[in-house]
Amino acid sequence: MEFFKVIETRRSIRAYHPDRPITDEQLKRILQAARSAPTAANKQPYKLVVIKNPKKTLDFVKQKAVHQAPLVLAIFVDETAAWVRKFDGKNFAWMDGSIVFEHVILAATAEGLSTVWIANTDPMAMKKACNIPTNFQFLALTPIGYAAEKPKATSRKPENEIVSYLE
Ligand SMILES: Cc1cc2nc3c(=O)[nH]c(=O)nc-3n(C[C@H](O)[C@H](O)[C@H](O)COP(=O)(O)O)c2cc1C
Repeated sequence: MEFFKVIETRRSIRAYHPDRPITDEQLKRILQAARSAPTAANKQPYKLVVIKNPKKTLDFVKQKAVHQAPLVLAIFVDETAAWVRKFDGKNFAWMDGSIVFEHVILAATAEGLSTVWIANTDPMAMKKACNIPTNFQFLALTPIGYAAEKPKATSRKPENEIVSYLE
């Protein structure tokens, strides 16, 4: 799919067809897109977890989309492995992980699949369920699968509220 079409097509989808699996090839391309993402100083301070039986592994998650989807990807970040800006001590783990996860979401869209970025779930339960080392913190998860809903339109702030031009 053409890049701007991907951007235009991507929407948060909260209902999935449980009986439509994604192929190994699709998953491979999505993971490769994730690995290609830039990270500060190329530290790559993240781990992705592919959850093939979300209904069982993530039974504590409230959002029904997570139980419907054939597959869920979760991402965790490690602040102790990330680049830190000396000027202000800012740790870039969360930014790195967010860029990686947006690659996941856009790659899935390009494959004709749907996603929804979910942050609102118990981070400690996610760590436990995914068997993640102590250094890592939960950033987000997304179901990946075929949409079973047409989402309502969402709005965006007008350009003049979010962009300023300096001459
Ligand atoms: C950092 C982040 C966290 C989000 N967390 C949740 C969430 O926990 N649950 C949810 O249903 N949607 C979540 N979303 C999806 C947003 O609500 C959604 O992107 C926004 O309303 C715009 O809709 P659209 O993605 O369809 O354009 C999250 C999105 C982002 C970027």
